[in-house]
Amino acid sequence: MTIWYGGDYNPEQWPREVWDEDVTLMRRGGISLATVAVFSWARLEPRPGEYDFGWLDDVLDTLHAGGIRVDLATATASPPPWLAKLHPETLPVTEDGVRLAVGSRQQYCPSSPVYREYARRLVERLVERYAGHPALELWHVNNEYGCHVHHCYCDASAAAFRGWLEARYGSIEELNRAWGTAFWSQRYDSFDEVDPPRAAPTFRNPTQLLDFDRFSSDELLACYRAEVEVIRAASDVPITTNFMGFFKPADYWKWAKEVDVVSDDAYPDPADPLSTPYAAMLRDLMRSLGGGAPWILMEQAPSAVNWRERNAPKAPGQMRAWSYQAVARGADGILFFQWRQSAAGSEKFHSGMVPHGGTDTRVWREIEEMGGELAQLSRPEVGLAGSRVASNVAIALDWESWWALEQPASPTAVAYQEVLFAWHVALTSLGLAVDFVRADQDLSAYRVVVAPAHFVLTDAQSANLAAYAEAGGSLVVGFATGVVDADLHVHLGGYVGGERLRGTLGVRVEEFAPPAAPDLRATGGGEAPPVALAGDVFDGDAVGTVWAEVVHATDAEVLATFVDGALAGSPAVTRRTTGGDSGGSGWYVATLPEPGALTELVGRIATEAGVELPSGLPAVGGTVEVVQRGPVVIAINHGDEGAILELDGTDLLTGAEARGLWLGPQGVAVVSRA
Ligand code: GLA
Repeated sequence: MTIWYGGDYNPEQWPREVWDEDVTLMRRGGISLATVAVFSWARLEPRPGEYDFGWLDDVLDTLHAGGIRVDLATATASPPPWLAKLHPETLPVTEDGVRLAVGSRQQYCPSSPVYREYARRLVERLVERYAGHPALELWHVNNEYGCHVHHCYCDASAAAFRGWLEARYGSIEELNRAWGTAFWSQRYDSFDEVDPPRAAPTFRNPTQLLDFDRFSSDELLACYRAEVEVIRAASDVPITTNFMGFFKPADYWKWAKEVDVVSDDAYPDPADPLSTPYAAMLRDLMRSLGGGAPWILMEQAPSAVNWRERNAPKAPGQMRAWSYQAVARGADGILFFQWRQSAAGSEKFHSGMVPHGGTDTRVWREIEEMGGELAQLSRPEVGLAGSRVASNVAIALDWESWWALEQPASPTAVAYQEVLFAWHVALTSLGLAVDFVRADQDLSAYRVVVAPAHFVLTDAQSANLAAYAEAGGSLVVGFATGVVDADLHVHLGGYVGGERLRGTLGVRVEEFAPPAAPDLRATGGGEAPPVALAGDVFDGDAVGTVWAEVVHATDAEVLATFVDGALAGSPAVTRRTTGGDSGGSGWYVATLPEPGALTELVGRIATEAGVELPSGLPAVGGTVEVVQRGPVVIAINHGDEGAILELDGTDLLTGAEARGLWLGPQGVAVVSRA
């Protein structure tokens, strides 16, 4: 076990003599893993069926001779221009009917049988040639599936969508029922009449949209599976494909089951003060997708990216601080895009580990320092590599709710991820480690489970959440949960997901009353005004944001109410004691309290549920992050001011006995408490 260190390596952009210098520098920088051939298809197969592997043999052998392990990409992420000339039908089409052109990357339709066939042939050749290469550590299938093209509306996609629908529904009558096509004369007489939800006069059928989201995620996954099948037939080396954090188009719960190790690309914006807590949430998601197993940060920027409007460099020490954040939250690999900063092409202004300025640069010095530290921390006696983060608090995350809630023609615009983020920030600001879960998985390991805006709720999910609270868990259900079922048909009789969950929570939701500003031009604009809340779960004045609703507490204690207007006196936060002696509870929160108020509420919920920090850990919050992983505590000061931390143990970076730590800005301490 080790903590990998490295990055994307694109030697085909450089003359041969640079490759030797690369390996010398990689050794100096403590690089242990290089991701190779991500965008090499055009070089590996310059003409259809004509392969050129000599240069890649050389790259792998050179890396191997230098002791660098290889994460070998299957190179299918960007087809060569000849594929589009030969088969223009492989090019993807937008919902407006525009066929995308060559000259950038990822210009393929995921459903195209022709693309898949050419990709399969290339992967077969790669696997045949390199499965036994001694440098091979990991297979890297494709790259960032769906990053640019996640929904394709071409005729091949339409045909595949029809096949997917037939498999799901069996008959056109069943599709008509599920899609509610009695509405607006949308009835289909056969599957042949059904198309992807292409640009249309007004609101498209919601279930058609949701099914197309499901289908599009599945089609990308089918591309991944097809390559995995080829690799598996000849190689036991682990396989990954790089995820992209909270990436809406791909349901990573499904995907994560099919990778041997979860890996992620993360580019928090150094100019955004929320980037640090947001990145913490990304890391927690990656750990959770793999069921708690260590994951790899496959790409991050050494400093600035080049694809924002304004591209801030990372502050001195920030790359290191964010890398440790990933390690603290379960990463066993810190990799970058990319090794050597390009001299040409559209990413030449994206930072690299070896910058344009060479090694006499801040970025290189930080890269080298980090490599040395991770090598130290990878020693088996440290016990960090391979270890896990213990958590007894979780947030339920659901891609279908994300897709459905953000559709047009909803009760009000809600940014699903922002709701999750608000809850994650509130929980982590108490110093708690937070996992993400599915609402239908075994939840018994958690003291508190929050289900925010779980808009789509199946009977199985609803029953599982109710059973969790009835068995003694503390279930916290947020607004806009259980409004519709998996076909997007409304749960009738008062929302919140059917009778069982309503009974557990002791509430019934009659009507949505989201705060709204005048939208005179029907642009959908208008900042939602806050709504005042009162109740002693909050320390003083509190306000809710985003959402409000008319709640009836049929069998629950009302702990906070809305204050103004038609909602005055109506329940905003309720709690019902469940689970008899086992002391479970079902909380319902009908708005999104602003951050301070949400933290107070979450503090109360956690205390009542008996959730405590691991013994001896300081509850710091603010800009200092403290996470226990296995036997090690990692403390990071993301702020501009120094901070003192009451933490005893051995600082593994300095070897000093820690009895209270001073952390300067971007300072990190890795403390062994064994
Ligand atoms: C993604 C891609 C890389 C590169 C980086 C730039 O993560 O996988 O090839 O384009 O973005 O930030």
